Amino acid sequence: MRVRPLRIRVRHRRLAGFVVLSAALFAVGTGYGLATEHTGAAAAGDPSAQIAQGRALFLQGCASCHGKAAEGTANAPSLIGVGAAAVDFQVSTGRMPLAQQGAQAPAKRPRYTQEQIEALAAYVASLGPGPAIPGKEQYTPPKNADLAFGGTLFRTNCSACHNFTGEGGALAYGKKAPPLTHATDRQIYEAMLTGPGTMPVFSDAQLTPQEKQDIIAYINAVRAVPDPGGFNLGRLGPVTEGLVAWLIGMAVLAVVAMWIGARAKRAQ
Ligand code: HEC
Ligand code: HEC
Repeated sequence: MRVRPLRIRVRHRRLAGFVVLSAALFAVGTGYGLATEHTGAAAAGDPSAQIAQGRALFLQGCASCHGKAAEGTANAPSLIGVGAAAVDFQVSTGRMPLAQQGAQAPAKRPRYTQEQIEALAAYVASLGPGPAIPGKEQYTPPKNADLAFGGTLFRTNCSACHNFTGEGGALAYGKKAPPLTHATDRQIYEAMLTGPGTMPVFSDAQLTPQEKQDIIAYINAVRAVPDPGGFNLGRLGPVTEGLVAWLIGMAVLAVVAMWIGARAKRAQ
């Protein structure tokens, strides 16, 4: 008879501990949830808040040319349906906001932070369907990307305007294809996806995402090649390199011959 109350007491104590622990966990959980509710929504990119932020930025910095609802004006095209990728490309390369009308929007230091660019992009994307900003896994070439194939694709699709090694070149009517020395992987992918200015769009039917990655890998490989002589001789290949080697070699031989001649004279 003395054993039972003890067991009950132990059981009660365990039960009480359980209740207290549960209550504490519940309090901490809901407290934390309430405390982080607002910031949590913003951090997770609450779509409507982001679009509202983008619309406010747009009215301030873009609407004067593109129109209050991005419908386009006499000065600038409509942005309905250009997609988030076009906005990310144009604003992250500093082309937009355009400072003055010219033959072509020049790239310059970006005016907006990446967060603001994403808000602008979300606003424009909300107006009509268009290409989304590609994800990192979409534009980053894999380690085993096919460089040789990327080079072939580059020569077929890009070099007519951007030169064989991406150094850029002049086009008609004062336009030019810029050198591909600065664009990030994402911007290269977006340029193909959206076709800025006079550049054509390369849809996924023309160049699959994997082929786009091979091209990016090729551009990265070409721009990583150093020019040890200081000049790259237009990277035209073995003919110019051979010519330069021949000219320098002949000059050195001539100097050596003259030196030998001078010594021979002195020895007489
Ligand atoms: C001074 C006028 C002006 C301002 C301000 C301006 N734009 Fe533009 N925008 C243009 C013109 C002109 C073009 C066409 C340029 C071209 O095709 O090279 C253009 C093109 C674009 C394009 C490419 C459209 C396409 O068909 O691919 C995007 C995207 C864009 N602008 C976004 C913006 C955003 C976002 C802002 C504000 C941050 C902005 N622009 C501010 C004049 C302007
Ligand atoms: C018909 C000519 C033409 C072809 C073909 C072309 N581009 Fe372009 N590209 C341009 C022009 C013009 C611009 C500049 C557009 C502007 O500033 O509005 C450009 C811009 C770019 C940029 C942005 C560079 C920067 O620093 O901002 C990249 C990246 C690019 N092109 C990559 C490519 C790739 C990759 C290909 C092949 C798949 C290609 N281009 C094919 C004409 C061309």
